[in-house]
Amino acid sequence: MRVYRRKFYNLFSKIYDSFVNLHSKNSGHEARKALAALIEPQRDKVVVDICTGTGSLLAYLADRSNVSLIIGIDFSRGMLKKAKEKIKDKNNIYLIEADVTRLPLRNAKCDKIFCSHAFYEVKDKDQVNLLNEVKRTLKPSGHFIMMEHEIPENMFIRFLFYLRILSMGIKAALNILKREEIYLKSYFSKVRKTYTSSKKSKIYICEK
Ligand SMILES: C[S@@+](CC[C@H](N)C(=O)[O-])C[C@H]1O[C@@H](n2cnc3c(N)ncnc32)[C@H](O)[C@@H]1O
Repeated sequence: MRVYRRKFYNLFSKIYDSFVNLHSKNSGHEARKALAALIEPQRDKVVVDICTGTGSLLAYLADRSNVSLIIGIDFSRGMLKKAKEKIKDKNNIYLIEADVTRLPLRNAKCDKIFCSHAFYEVKDKDQVNLLNEVKRTLKPSGHFIMMEHEIPENMFIRFLFYLRILSMGIKAALNILKREEIYLKSYFSKVRKTYTSSKKSKIYICEK
């Protein structure tokens, strides 16, 4: 199954950026800027973007802090190829091809781990492993920062949103829709919810 998912993302990588630009217009840039603004340059030395896709967040993270080590992780080679092009003039970003259910990172090394517009695409059991891996690799004072779409107003986009959510599996989808904050609180000591300026995306800031 995982093989098919990877194949799907390899294909999707060819049109992913155009697709996102078409339906998010400027709000995608705003949202990524808002995420990058959460980096504390003096404090955050190791910053990871899991499910980095075509690496759209990475350049913003690098601009925010040129002293941090920034790592983008994704299991799709096609997505990472696009990311590589995007970050070619940045020297503090590394890309790793890996599954988020087994992060190739040592215990308690990361200051911040981001996951942007991807959590709803990770299957139910894999989500549990993802959250355990995030906890394992975060420093005791580290944060997991997760951004996801709010339910869209446009009917067609809303239809695509529900299809996307269903890719997690029905049980996980219902759980997430009804109890997302409670779910995250079962993993992290503190969970704070905020929104991007367009209110199209929500951001959870979770403290280990
Ligand atoms: C919708 S894209 C989001 C990309 C990017 N974070 C963004 O904001 O544009 C979802 C990404 O998650 C990756 N992904 C999904 N499941 C994964 C897994 N189990 N391990 C690693 N990457 C995964 C896909 O390859 C894809 O690049």
